Amino acid sequence: MNAGFLPMPARIVAIEPLDRDHRLFSLRPAQPFDLRPGQFVEITIPGVGAFPVSACAPVAAGLLTSCIRRAGRVTEALFQLESGALLGVRGPFGNGFPVETFYGSDPLLIAGGLGIAPLRALLHALLAIPERVGRITLLYGTREPGALLFREELAGLAATGRIDLRLSVDFAEELSLEEWGVACEVGLVNDLLRAVTFDPARTVAALCGPPGLYRCLIEELARAGIPPQRIFATLERRMRCGIGECCHCVTGGVFLCREGPVFSLDRLRSMEGAI
Ligand SMILES: Cc1cc2nc3c(=O)[nH]c(=O)nc-3n(C[C@H](O)[C@H](O)[C@H](O)COP(=O)(O)OP(=O)(O)OC[C@H]3O[C@@H](n4cnc5c(N)ncnc54)[C@H](O)[C@@H]3O)c2cc1C
Ligand code: FES
Repeated sequence: MNAGFLPMPARIVAIEPLDRDHRLFSLRPAQPFDLRPGQFVEITIPGVGAFPVSACAPVAAGLLTSCIRRAGRVTEALFQLESGALLGVRGPFGNGFPVETFYGSDPLLIAGGLGIAPLRALLHALLAIPERVGRITLLYGTREPGALLFREELAGLAATGRIDLRLSVDFAEELSLEEWGVACEVGLVNDLLRAVTFDPARTVAALCGPPGLYRCLIEELARAGIPPQRIFATLERRMRCGIGECCHCVTGGVFLCREGPVFSLDRLRSMEGAI
């Protein structure tokens, strides 16, 4: 793809609504490309602007698939487009999750809200190498039941024993999740972490979600005995250029777009203002 300033043309080949404010967009860039889970691209809507986004699935058959929330001006313009429309894409940018670090481990993935998007890409990358990884646990929390994304798919993976799935919602008047056959707690993701058992010596953890989520969970994972160099979080801060030119993303003296957005806890501890 194009990792410089000039976007490459990419066509929207499919749009799948997930709920009112989230859609799955499949894009076909003009040239073949690859994207590791956790890396990101800049999508440009001609005449409107650009925004950074990660992939929510490994690249397959030349398709970039992203789960996008209608958040503001540029994403709203994207939601007005239909299949067949042309966009621009720049990237891939950033480092992504070090998938090899998960070899021989029991992966523990923790997602809050839209943080499920890059973690779903990591999840699928790990599911594709069952001989290399042990038991996969996914803890995933949202505000309310309707905001749980990919629920049928995740419930299917749990039902066939491919992942240990624990869900939580902050608020719910009535929980009607039995139809998916997955337990869902009313509470915070922190409560899910306290309820799950894992062997810290075998665990590699990955987190993505709002800053409030990883701020309180990341050190809790370390206190549970997981070495800080085996705990990873992706920092989705404001990013513009993606290539270390605009300084929008600089945190604690580090260009998140170039050196991140995925960092291990031992690195995060040395970056002022990162957590
Ligand atoms: C590395 C990275 C990966 C991302 N992956 C995804 C993804 O997979 N799916 C997705 O929907 N979005 C993702 N985002 C967030 C996405 O870039 C923003 O939602 C988008 O820029 C909003 O653009 P806009 O012009 O529509 O809204 P704006 O008008 O720019 O913003 C709308 C609202 O969103 C807030 N906002 C904008 N950018 C961010 C941000 N980075 N973090 C927190 N709040 C923000 C603004 O403060 C404002 O309140 C990612 C961001 C980064 C940096
Ligand atoms: S996004 Fe421009 S320097 Fe990082």
